[in-house]
Amino acid sequence: MPLRVVVAGATGVVGRALLPLLRERGHHVTALARKADRLEELSVDEIAAVDLLEPDALRIHLRRAAPDVVIDQSSAFGAADPQEALQRTAKLRERGTKNLMDAAVAAGARRFIAQGMTAAYRPHGHDVLEEDSPLWVHVPGRWGDLVRALASVEEDLFSRPGIEGVSLRYGSLYGPDTHYAPGGDVHARVVGSELPLVGDGVGLTSFTHVDDAAGVILELLEGGDPGAYNVVDNEPAESSEWLPAYARMAGAPAPVALTMEQAKSQLDWLTVHQLTEQRGASNFRLRETLGWKPSWPSWREGFASLFGLWPA
Ligand SMILES: NC(=O)c1ccc[n+]([C@@H]2O[C@H](COP(=O)([O-])OP(=O)(O)OC[C@H]3O[C@@H](n4cnc5c(N)ncnc54)[C@H](OP(=O)(O)O)[C@@H]3O)[C@@H](O)[C@H]2O)c1
Repeated sequence: MPLRVVVAGATGVVGRALLPLLRERGHHVTALARKADRLEELSVDEIAAVDLLEPDALRIHLRRAAPDVVIDQSSAFGAADPQEALQRTAKLRERGTKNLMDAAVAAGARRFIAQGMTAAYRPHGHDVLEEDSPLWVHVPGRWGDLVRALASVEEDLFSRPGIEGVSLRYGSLYGPDTHYAPGGDVHARVVGSELPLVGDGVGLTSFTHVDDAAGVILELLEGGDPGAYNVVDNEPAESSEWLPAYARMAGAPAPVALTMEQAKSQLDWLTVHQLTEQRGASNFRLRETLGWKPSWPSWREGFASLFGLWPA
């Protein structure tokens, strides 16, 4: 049955991939973001130019849209400075997502779909973590602020009466227009030999192609129990594996090797953590409960597609 759907962050990388999928299935889509000119380029039923940090305006727009489902794909990860990106996204989650939840409840929405991150798990025990693993809320600094904001959003989301909360915990997001695409931040760091192999390079990353970040939402508009879902591919990869492979495909120099001590003095804490101790995530819950399969099961073909190397 066609649903009325509001998509916040509709002009972002995941939002833009999601909108045509919703419309192909006949859903009525209201696209929401701040910049009206970018909204006007979208092919949707309604647009609403509004800031998630303005609760009163948000409430009016949501009431008008009368959604069954509200999806938050807003983010500020695109900010040029990484520390600023963390700070702005934490604020957006802490205040903006919560404002959107309030407005969704007031407008009578049945389900709210939020954005989380598998990188927020506390590294412990197994290499590959499932949804019941704790988020790393005690880590200090800007990263900790973001993890605490994500944890607070989920806690709120899963306990609100009258609305079903779903959190999509994405892996490292890649695909066209992301940090991994030519012109993006990861691409620039690899091409500039600024992303090294550190120690044994055993930090694991789970990846999510933008197509899967968007596509999984079709399964969760009405189906699936409320709660958290890891939305990741089937192949968590150590940095010693994915980083040289990415550099080769990008035509970049092989990554330089640093000891842990060298890395700690030359790189920021988050980069060292991701390259050396981060854990991967399992998509077992999505597969088991919804029969979901990623359309990009491995980052290998996914990365190759970024550089015109796939299909071969
Ligand atoms: N999304 C993720 O999970 C994730 C995770 C890690 C890294 N990244 C990387 O970050 C880069 C950017 O991708 P992205 O999806 O994060 O962001 P994006 O493509 O920049 O999209 C962000 C969306 O949120 C909207 N938005 C931001 N602040 C808002 C506010 N206060 N009120 C209302 N709407 C707001 C933006 O529109 P307006 O500016 O018009 O408001 C836009 O529609 C990509 O390169 C990706 O690789 C993304």
